[in-house]
Amino acid sequence: MKTLTLGVPSERQMAFLSDSHRYVAFGGARGGGKSWAVRIKAVLLAFYYKGIRIMIVRRTYPELRANHIEPLKLLLGDTAVYKESTKEITFPTGSVIMFRHCANSSDIDKYQGTEVDVLFLDEATQLTEEEYERFKACVRGVNPFPKRIYLTCNPGGVGHGFVKRLFVDRRFRESENPEDYVFIKSLVTDNHALMESDPEYIKQLESLPPKLKKAWLHGDWDIFEGQFFEEFRDDPDHYEDRKHTHVIAPFEIPYDWKIVRSFDFGFRKPFSCDWWAIDYEGRAYLILQLYGCTDIPNDGVKWHPDKIFSEIRRLETEHRWLKGKCIEGVADPSIWDASRGEAIIEAADRHFVYFSRGDNKRIPGWMQCHYRMGFDGEGKPMVYFFNTCKAAIRTIPLLEFSDTVPEDLDTEGEDHFADSFRYFCMSRPITPKISREIKPSGDDPLDQRTRYKGFSY
Ligand SMILES: Nc1ncnc2c1ncn2[C@@H]1O[C@H](COP(=O)(O)OP(=O)(O)O)[C@@H](O)[C@H]1O
Ligand SMILES: [Mg+2]
Repeated sequence: MKTLTLGVPSERQMAFLSDSHRYVAFGGARGGGKSWAVRIKAVLLAFYYKGIRIMIVRRTYPELRANHIEPLKLLLGDTAVYKESTKEITFPTGSVIMFRHCANSSDIDKYQGTEVDVLFLDEATQLTEEEYERFKACVRGVNPFPKRIYLTCNPGGVGHGFVKRLFVDRRFRESENPEDYVFIKSLVTDNHALMESDPEYIKQLESLPPKLKKAWLHGDWDIFEGQFFEEFRDDPDHYEDRKHTHVIAPFEIPYDWKIVRSFDFGFRKPFSCDWWAIDYEGRAYLILQLYGCTDIPNDGVKWHPDKIFSEIRRLETEHRWLKGKCIEGVADPSIWDASRGEAIIEAADRHFVYFSRGDNKRIPGWMQCHYRMGFDGEGKPMVYFFNTCKAAIRTIPLLEFSDTVPEDLDTEGEDHFADSFRYFCMSRPITPKISREIKPSGDDPLDQRTRYKGFSY
């Protein structure tokens, strides 16, 4: 007989492992030990029920690999066999765990004929409701095994609405039986293993602005509305001492501070070109901005690309903060797109204005903006805006949360400076400022050993 050591679940994970509803949602916040619980539950089922078919889904293959395939290969060793060509683990019991991803809806077409008994949708809020319904349809088959669907989730993502309706608000349609649905909440503070091994993780969540903190630390689903950069402060009383304000009075930039230029181009919309000075601690100052519209005349000026880049070049050769400096550029990656004629980058090249491609991952990008805007213990953020940069100061407080992608901003707003700010932040990511110490709370995790037995076969 071989013994597998599966580890010790937290109390919340134990509730998940032992629940018997048909639809179980688990988590509701970041770092609550969701993927761990999925892996362990799948393994327990595969050993207990001979011949059971289990499917674990994640949005992308790299996430599937990192969160499930590799950890399970490590956990199972030679007690089960993983085959890369089929992306399945087969167990000596004849049971199977299939790993499937769904980068886009057409991937699900490939799984249409698949029949499984138990489905795990890890990070189900990353799936649309239609994708959820289509995966759900795979849970069928004429055999005595229980049919179950387990979802793990955080507030946010394209699936926020349907997960909230079913499991948080419990607003059911006629075809849905309320008794089939349960939500088991697990917060990062319930995950003692993570709190002990990676205390930095909870500090990152602690340093988020209030709405995101409520969502991802406390598991609150009602928060993504109103002002997107709610932490933004423009306090003229503190322009000089620079405390608890993002807007400050301009000052002369020391010559050896690095300068970075970020750029967002709006096709028939505003563009934003922004110059950031970086001090010795990595703190960024928006010192200068060129903002205009490429189509609708703004202040009587219509900015075609050659005009934009010749002006950028002029400023960089004449302005006392910029001239003679080696300026790093980062830009909206769509300026390399040549499908509508000449790519905008060609015009930039003509004027000797060079850029590298900005990283356009939106949510991680916004997180970097939030991290920079967070105030440290002395009330200092990692980014300031000179009060002469009017478009930045005007547009940042106006941006709102999106209705469709909850933790993103509404792209109908005037978001060009914000996008440029995001490319800048992603070009030099930071870890958030730590605001206060947090200690793990609650029971001694060792207590759970008495309630949980390792599994043998
Ligand atoms: N019961 C546990 N015992 C040991 N490590 C755990 C346990 N639960 C979670 N972890 C570890 O904590 C970290 C976060 O857990 P994870 O399941 O990835 O969280 P989530 O999916 O909710 O973000 C991972 O490194 C995971 O392996
Ligand atoms: Mg996870």
